[in-house]
Amino acid sequence: MSLATDLRAKLRLPVMAGPMFIASTADLVIAQCKAGIIGAMPALNPCSTAALDEDVARIRETVGDRPYCINLVAHRTNERLQADLDVILRHKVPIVVLALAANPDLVKELQANGALVFQDVIKNRHAQKCAEMGVDGIIAVGAGAGGHTGDQSPFALMQEIREWWDGLLILSGCIANGRSLLAAEVLGADLAYIGSAFLASDEANTQAGFKQMIVDCSAADITVTNCFTGVNANFLLPSILKNGLDPKNLQRPPGGEINISGGGANSKAWRDIWSAGQGIGAIKRSEPAAAYIDWLADDYAQAKTAMGVA
Ligand SMILES: Cc1cc2nc3c(=O)[nH]c(=O)nc-3n(C[C@H](O)[C@H](O)[C@H](O)COP(=O)(O)O)c2cc1C
Repeated sequence: MSLATDLRAKLRLPVMAGPMFIASTADLVIAQCKAGIIGAMPALNPCSTAALDEDVARIRETVGDRPYCINLVAHRTNERLQADLDVILRHKVPIVVLALAANPDLVKELQANGALVFQDVIKNRHAQKCAEMGVDGIIAVGAGAGGHTGDQSPFALMQEIREWWDGLLILSGCIANGRSLLAAEVLGADLAYIGSAFLASDEANTQAGFKQMIVDCSAADITVTNCFTGVNANFLLPSILKNGLDPKNLQRPPGGEINISGGGANSKAWRDIWSAGQGIGAIKRSEPAAAYIDWLADDYAQAKTAMGVA
């Protein structure tokens, strides 16, 4: 059985949650897993390695053999990399998404410990590097995604990657309703990777104003900039304005080095200036994650019926 078939057999929907800095909590992961998708959170969200240890223990105990994922920023600016990796290895976390750096030794170490290793990419050539490193799954991040985004159309990205990669392929960016989920599959994705749609979930660690902004805003309210982290990311325009910044004249913070670990001084970008992707127009209410996933399941079934897909 292929990995894609194996994973999908364990899920109600072909969906994996996108891990989100600050926003994803252990409670969100548990709710996502219980509702039948792969739950995910960044290792850096719990405030310390000890807190990560506690969270992973709780997730593991609660979700049993349902698949869940911890996202590890493999970039050198992540000071907790080794300590968090030790936690991941000790708990035998089933899926690890490596972000922002190619590290073949890390891939091998995790796989030797039984983990599936996925890596996100924004270009076909990055995907080829990941395949050379022996990852188990590739996450293609298209234009319009929340957080650090790609700039290529998902059509182009999926066409190019699917030409040569027959392994697990996950599509990320703007997927939030039943039709976009079905469309991701038509493009060749085994799973859809959904982030921003969960920002308005009750279990997300997002302020009430952030949740409301997700409900109120749509694609026109999203802007892309590399000013906050040095790498292109999508942000909600109203949150930029609320912080007294001019979206047309965004400057890197003084002395601000590129720091893509998501931590340190640049946390402000994620805590106060809120990131989201262009797909949020589909999110009409703030509610428990399970309620959104129920709605998505229903909407996906309707999309399949409308398209005559069994
Ligand atoms: C607020 C926010 C924070 C994010 N933080 C991370 C992160 O820490 N690590 C990561 O790999 N991806 C991160 N992402 C990207 C998501 O995992 C996922 O790729 C993206 O949200 C998918 O696009 P969508 O938001 O349009 O659904 C973040 C996205 C958002 C919206």
